[in-house]
Amino acid sequence: MDQIKEQESVNKGTIGLPDNRLLELKRVIVATIVGGALVCLCAVLFIDKNVTKSIAEINRDRLLHLRQACERTNNGGKYKIEPSFYIHVKNESLLYCLVFKSGTTTWFYNINRWAGYSEEKILDDKTDNFMLARQKYPWENPQKLLTSMKNAYSFIVVRDPFERLISAYEERLLGQLHPYFKKLSHQIYKRYHNDGNEYGIPTFQDFARYVVDQNRAEQPSDLHWRPINDLCTPCLARYDSIIKMESFGPELAYLVNRTQLQEKIKSVHMNHSRRDSLKRLIEKYFSQLTKQQYEDLYDIYRIDFELFQYSPESVILYVNGLTVL
Ligand SMILES: *[C@@H]1O[C@H](CO)[C@@H](O)[C@H](O)[C@H]1NC(C)=O
Ligand SMILES: *[C@@H]1O[C@H](CO)[C@@H](O)[C@H](O)[C@H]1NC(C)=O
Ligand SMILES: *[C@@H]1O[C@H](CO)[C@@H](O)[C@H](O)[C@H]1NC(C)=O
Repeated sequence: MDQIKEQESVNKGTIGLPDNRLLELKRVIVATIVGGALVCLCAVLFIDKNVTKSIAEINRDRLLHLRQACERTNNGGKYKIEPSFYIHVKNESLLYCLVFKSGTTTWFYNINRWAGYSEEKILDDKTDNFMLARQKYPWENPQKLLTSMKNAYSFIVVRDPFERLISAYEERLLGQLHPYFKKLSHQIYKRYHNDGNEYGIPTFQDFARYVVDQNRAEQPSDLHWRPINDLCTPCLARYDSIIKMESFGPELAYLVNRTQLQEKIKSVHMNHSRRDSLKRLIEKYFSQLTKQQYEDLYDIYRIDFELFQYSPESVILYVNGLTVL
């Protein structure tokens, strides 16, 4: 109020308004100050809640959500931990579960560099980095693994299930860098096209049908598109950190800081030239699917969506015959 009085006298001196106009001006000033303060407060609260949540808080929320989602889903339907894709880096006290198509380039680079492999070897497209890693970081049986989880910094890198699927399709089946996937790609094409073409390239719809058919036939799915729930059995694990591929940079920086590995961890990107934006890719691929195909596919990744708080919303928009509520 003192401030307003001061302002009043200043106004009086300089403008010389009549008393009733001054009163009105005073009201306007008070209203402006109060209104401004409220806007500021709201902005601060809003930012606090939605934008500036620290990575540590986000991580705590994710871990809590995972625990609750695991309760709801009966531990994702799993009864014993799957140890095949965990890598225990004892030297750095890190325990990592590999989710293929989700940050593995960076992690393979680092763990295999630590193990003494050359950069050329690691970054060569034909190298099986998982096999290399296994030679230096042996498999641990479930009992041992559970103990390691308590003692090491345990983490997983996850990704939106459908984005992961698109990435697997593009890199493995369209990219055709590996002889194995080149062959698989043609096999999938032949399975769904009766045109005698030996070297056809499957559409995303063919791929989706293949993933669903393999699942129905209870065939083990390829690691690059196997659900995270099957790869890592996250409900039976203990993690210190859940990193999301969608915000990999800052979350990796957080992990590096937490584990004091600043000098040791390097972020690596492979140069897969991607011509289209993610939105464009989703539209291009998911518009090929029928409602039934989409639903069958969703069902395979349902637990991953639930455990890691992903939503198929951006995809549903493009599926034929599915309407958005
Ligand atoms: C762990 O550290 C030891 C001692 O520095 C080294 O001899 C060994 O090769 C390291 N192991 C791996 C897998 O990096
Ligand atoms: C790194 O961790 C320390 C505590 O260990 C913390 O004070 C600091 O803010 C962190 N820095 C970043 C960039 O997260
Ligand atoms: C990655 O792509 C950029 C631009 O397309 C190119 O200049 C660069 O040489 C590529 N790097 C590698 C390692 O292929």
